[in-house]
Amino acid sequence: MVRVTAPSVFFALLLPSLAAWGNVIPRAPEDFDYVIVGAGAAGSVLANRLTEGNRFSVLLLEAGPDNEGVLEGTLPYIYPRMFGGPYNWNYSTAPTPGLGNRNGPYFRGHVLGGSTSINGMTYTRGPSADWDRLASHLGDSSWSWARIQSYFRKNEAFEAPPGPPNNRFTPSVHGTSGAIGVSLNLNNEWIVPPTLQAASEIGLPYNNDVNSGNPIGISWQQFAIKNGARSSAATGYLRQNVAGRTNLNVRVNARALRLVPNSGPGPLTFRTVEYRDETNGNIIQVSARRDVIVSAGVIDTPTLLMRSGLGDPAELRAANITPRFTIPALGNNFIEHPGVPISWSVNTTLTDDELDKDPALFAQELERWNTNKTGRLAQTSLTHIMYNRLPRNHSIFRTVSDPSGGANAPHYEQIVANKWVTLGARPAGNFIGMTQFVMAPTSTGSVKLNSADILGPPIINANSFNTEWDKAVIRHAIRSSIAYMRSPAWAPFNIQPTFDPTVADTDARLDAFVAASGFGGAHGVGTARIGRANSRPGSDVVGPDFRVKGIRGVRIVDASVLPFSPAAHAMVPVYVLAEKAADTIKGAP
Ligand SMILES: Cc1cc2nc3c(=O)[nH]c(=O)nc-3n(C[C@H](O)[C@H](O)[C@H](O)COP(=O)(O)OP(=O)(O)OC[C@H]3O[C@@H](n4cnc5c(N)ncnc54)[C@H](O)[C@@H]3O)c2cc1C
Ligand SMILES: *[C@@H]1O[C@H](CO)[C@@H](O)[C@H](O)[C@H]1NC(C)=O
Ligand SMILES: *[C@@H]1O[C@H](CO)[C@@H](O)[C@H](O)[C@H]1NC(C)=O
Ligand SMILES: *[C@@H]1O[C@H](CO)[C@@H](O)[C@H](O)[C@H]1NC(C)=O
Ligand SMILES: *[C@@H]1O[C@H](CO)[C@@H](O)[C@H](O)[C@H]1NC(C)=O
Repeated sequence: MVRVTAPSVFFALLLPSLAAWGNVIPRAPEDFDYVIVGAGAAGSVLANRLTEGNRFSVLLLEAGPDNEGVLEGTLPYIYPRMFGGPYNWNYSTAPTPGLGNRNGPYFRGHVLGGSTSINGMTYTRGPSADWDRLASHLGDSSWSWARIQSYFRKNEAFEAPPGPPNNRFTPSVHGTSGAIGVSLNLNNEWIVPPTLQAASEIGLPYNNDVNSGNPIGISWQQFAIKNGARSSAATGYLRQNVAGRTNLNVRVNARALRLVPNSGPGPLTFRTVEYRDETNGNIIQVSARRDVIVSAGVIDTPTLLMRSGLGDPAELRAANITPRFTIPALGNNFIEHPGVPISWSVNTTLTDDELDKDPALFAQELERWNTNKTGRLAQTSLTHIMYNRLPRNHSIFRTVSDPSGGANAPHYEQIVANKWVTLGARPAGNFIGMTQFVMAPTSTGSVKLNSADILGPPIINANSFNTEWDKAVIRHAIRSSIAYMRSPAWAPFNIQPTFDPTVADTDARLDAFVAASGFGGAHGVGTARIGRANSRPGSDVVGPDFRVKGIRGVRIVDASVLPFSPAAHAMVPVYVLAEKAADTIKGAP
């Protein structure tokens, strides 16, 4: 097992202040082959793969604390508790017109494992069409669905439930010996028959496996849960399979503040990372003999580069940062999956609202989990996942061409929950929820530094529901959900909407409902997008080798490089991107 340490506090000398934020204490001559910034989905994969075979030494810096022993990050059911406390960056989105100018929270993991230590654990590879689109974007067929399969398998250790598959999954599409445990939710038995029956009543086909490359239809949902506990980038890549690796050094509570340019003549090169030990405020510099790899995620990767003098020169000057290289694309092309959660009341007490309301029931389930890692806390409140496309004759196609990746790429997602999901306090009673997301959004936003406080929360603008397409998709999804809940399968539970269903009668009223009840998403990509080797530096941030175009010494591997949003929850796409990037980097001279 790799030792996870807080930064050491032994320093030889104190140098004069080099940075605005404090005294810089170099740990000279401390250097590594690679310094990786951020131990989330991507950074953890890279730290693991680059230290295989003892060829390279790696320092992995993580701003947040260790995940070890954090119960709310282990028990799947209580994962929303990770949104409070020190495990979240506490960001919010800027007031958004498509959301009634509200500014909601923008959750990001601030803990070993990054957002995979706080997320909803939904495990989705996305449609084959989206991987094929990435291959054609890069002009490189090694990114195609067919050729990326080995990386899915490296990531996945599917745990089949006992007994035959019973059409709940297709064994042949799964990996069984990869890093992340994956399983189905077999709790909430009562909700399974109506969930499946209602889908069939609205004409949504049954899909044997959401991760086969064609996610369209209703499928059993798959989760990054192993033996009743969260399987995260930290548990899967930093604690397993790394025993005895002295070439892997992991430091938590170590926040990178900027990359420091090499002095002297020659091309602009960054191989030094300046980080702050959050336990004592000391500022420390470390160097990479080969590369600095930035894996700080879709928000913090662009802002780290901006603090290093990269980006839009006018914006940098406004923040009192010396511009060193112009990258107009940095922080732009921010793409999210906006969503709308809605709830219906039901007359069964089998919903998880009981678990949230009744401390005795919760205590009983906690005891059960402690005894044998089973029961309702070993899973979430979701069992199935639905993906669909707008009908071909939808009027939006008269003015907008289909922006999705292709025929098996969904336009929207719907997920039934065994409890209240609407934003805001839960009323008395029992509920089932439905959350719908736009999966092929065309709204784009941006991430910018707050010029008044460049180490403070950045300005995050997801621009949700900003296009006619996104509005048309969410309207269709909500109307489809209303039809789904009105189908005879739910009638035995005396199902009733907790909102006025006549909002769906006109587009204008439905848009107002979306603006009042939607949120910006948690699957952001695109703020440091990847492009072909010959694309103009600045229009794309990195090339196919993940190197930042136009400078030396820095690669980016994380959600920010994905140029479009896969029609999937983003974790598996990022894991697979990082698995492939690790091979690219190891193969490099
Ligand atoms: C609340 C929530 C729910 C989600 N639900 C799902 C889901 O159910 N299924 C799914 O597939 N996806 C889900 N996602 C999305 C998924 O978790 C992310 O897309 C994925 O983790 C992105 O990986 P990443 O490596 O780009 O960034 P992250 O996993 O966010 O990791 C970035 C890491 O870098 C660290 N860092 C940032 N700045 C610095 C710095 N300056 N110095 C040092 N370290 C730094 C951060 O603390 C963090 O640990 C969810 C995300 C959230 C936030
Ligand atoms: C987020 O806010 C909580 C208080 O709600 C605080 O304990 C935590 O330290 C904050 N996280 C960060 C990264 O600042
Ligand atoms: C797990 O433990 C609980 C007691 O806390 C018990 O009721 C349950 O049957 C056990 N389940 C299994 C699968 O062992
Ligand atoms: C689209 O076609 C379906 C039949 O396939 C029909 O019921 C529906 O009314 C059509 N919608 C529009 C907008 O033409
Ligand atoms: C729930 O409502 C249905 C339909 O109204 C009714 O038939 C059933 O008896 C009710 N169940 C309970 C537990 O009240």
